[in-house]
Amino acid sequence: MEFYLDTANIDEIKEAVSWGVINGVTTNPTLVAREEGRSFHEIIKEICNLVQGPVSAEVISMDLDGILKEARELAALDPHVVVKIPITPQGLAAVRILSGEGVHVNVTLVFSALQALLAARAGAAYVSPFIGRIDDTGQEGIDVLCDIMDVVNNYQFTTRVIAASIRHPRHVLESARLGTDIATVPFKVLKQMFRHPLTDRGIERFLADWEKVMK
Ligand code: G3P
Repeated sequence: MEFYLDTANIDEIKEAVSWGVINGVTTNPTLVAREEGRSFHEIIKEICNLVQGPVSAEVISMDLDGILKEARELAALDPHVVVKIPITPQGLAAVRILSGEGVHVNVTLVFSALQALLAARAGAAYVSPFIGRIDDTGQEGIDVLCDIMDVVNNYQFTTRVIAASIRHPRHVLESARLGTDIATVPFKVLKQMFRHPLTDRGIERFLADWEKVMK
């Protein structure tokens, strides 16, 4: 499983990249809006430079011409840019055209296996089911992810599945058990994944014992 960081915050990305476990980054308009005072394109270019892996940047147009224009501008920023497009009929029409031009697209706001199948059919390089937001509706996000893994794997699609809207480490574990290609995790969840009380206690004990050796 690959890990992407789900943030547009440069400090978080720098720190997570330094830990050696991050393969890419995903952003969305909400995450970018939190980084006040900087232009969207500037942020994306800096993230690409730091990560040197796939960086998802989302379009906000809803009509085909607008989506294509924004997508081409974003793709021209850096070879690592993956254009993120919400799943709509116009969005998938754009995916078909852009994938034909060699632009990698991450189809986002996916909440069902049928939506994932359509995205794969249109030529999406990635599809992003939002696990946490499905949980928020009272349905099991992981069950939907399980359906998506089943149906995508039944065929020869090259589309990679990104477990998104991850809220806690258990989402990551369950996604990994399903063989999901990628989990995109908020910085807070990434830090939680490192932690175990027995690791902390073990380090404390080793250090205390080593003090005795040094005396
Ligand atoms: O990757 C999608 C993510 O940014 C959405 O997360 O927590 O707003 O549902 P959330």
